[in-house]
Amino acid sequence: MNRATAAVRVTVPPPGQRARRWAAYHLATAAPATYVEGFIWDRTAPAIGPFCTDADGNVLLDFASHIGTAALGYNHPALLEEAARCAVVDPDRYAGTDFIGAAGPDPDAPTLPTPAHLQHKLLELTAPFKFGRVFLSNSGAEAVENAIKCGYAARPAARYAITFEGAFHGRTLGALSLNRSKAVHRAFFPQIPQVLSLPFCTCAAACRCGWEEADGTSRLARLLTPESGIVRPDEVAFIIFEPVQGEGGFRVPRKAFLQEVARLARQHGIPLIADEVQSGMGRTGRWWAIEHFGVTPDLMTAGKALRVGATLGRADLFPAEAGRLGGTWAEGNALSTAVGYRTIAVIEREGLLQNASRMGERLLAGLRDLAGRYPHVVDTRGLGLMAAVELDARERRGAVVRAALARGLVLLGCGVKAIRFLPPLDVAEREIGMALELLDAALKEAAA
Ligand SMILES: Cc1ncc(COP(=O)(O)O)c(C=O)c1O
Repeated sequence: MNRATAAVRVTVPPPGQRARRWAAYHLATAAPATYVEGFIWDRTAPAIGPFCTDADGNVLLDFASHIGTAALGYNHPALLEEAARCAVVDPDRYAGTDFIGAAGPDPDAPTLPTPAHLQHKLLELTAPFKFGRVFLSNSGAEAVENAIKCGYAARPAARYAITFEGAFHGRTLGALSLNRSKAVHRAFFPQIPQVLSLPFCTCAAACRCGWEEADGTSRLARLLTPESGIVRPDEVAFIIFEPVQGEGGFRVPRKAFLQEVARLARQHGIPLIADEVQSGMGRTGRWWAIEHFGVTPDLMTAGKALRVGATLGRADLFPAEAGRLGGTWAEGNALSTAVGYRTIAVIEREGLLQNASRMGERLLAGLRDLAGRYPHVVDTRGLGLMAAVELDARERRGAVVRAALARGLVLLGCGVKAIRFLPPLDVAEREIGMALELLDAALKEAAA
């Protein structure tokens, strides 16, 4: 498949017969999850950039990129080369916090990038934050788990945690306790106690979400004020937030809001954790979305595009005692680590931060134009290539996603009634144009 000439081609409306057969085969044994049954990607069929082939031979344009995990789209030659180089070694996953893996005689000239090289690289990419340690793991949720463990460990007397409305941090028990985007994530599961949630302010002009009181005092400032608040600052173990909320609806916060959170965290010595699992790795046009807001976190998480989970932060916040963080496969995912390392190299070499900014503006302008023409699009928002449109109703959102897929455009919902756009970071103008055209037709159909 040639990316420059590839075209969307739907000959059998998805899901076709083969797609349905694969879905039925998979779902016969799979635990219920969040499956998108209409899109069944054939891993053995041609795919390049945002184009892939489904089980019925349809060529589709994927603007969900496996929720940003395929940050360079399908079959990027550099990533295929890296994976092929690594595949000569088994085990490719080893007990990396117990046994350190070398790659040749000299770490300064490795034959393969190791977890240590990824750690060094991540510290380089977060240099302005003055981080000193990295802990690699298997998923975004694990990255979050280890970040909050650092918070609790650093402040053993503290019993509260602070999260924000609309937040999503993963599905393990610790991480899900911090979620405030949908009830389904937490319902009937035991949770970390004493997690308080505050409004996540996205107000463009005057604050109307309840974050700011009439006299300008923020809810966090009020909460932490000994005379009028409900907790003492030294009782708070950490504050965690997404610099741009992902699952909760691609909500871009107001800059002054994040700066106020950071100011109070700094004033009271409360570790501030930026969860960049979805928004990081260049997605918004900067390495980390937090950079748009002039805020320095104490701890940070990354995942998805990185192919492994990563908890980074100030060295003094990591527990010194052995065995306090994860084990076995932590730090030991050799293949994914190498592919994540190479992803960073490609983003640097191909200038993809700039591309994400430029193409993000192009995408958002196109979405705004569509919103102007379809009254059932009630909002458009985004930062770089993390963009969304909000529909007037949840059912309409479903109808648009289905109509888009029927035309060959793969999209994914977020929030209650929004659709997220996460094209590859190297997306081309031609591909954005194709996506907007297909979306236009889907919005038209869903208007009827
Ligand atoms: C902001 C954020 N944090 C954490 C996670 C959890 O990551 P994972 O699904 O890799 O466990 C996600 C996943 O969507 C996420 O968007």
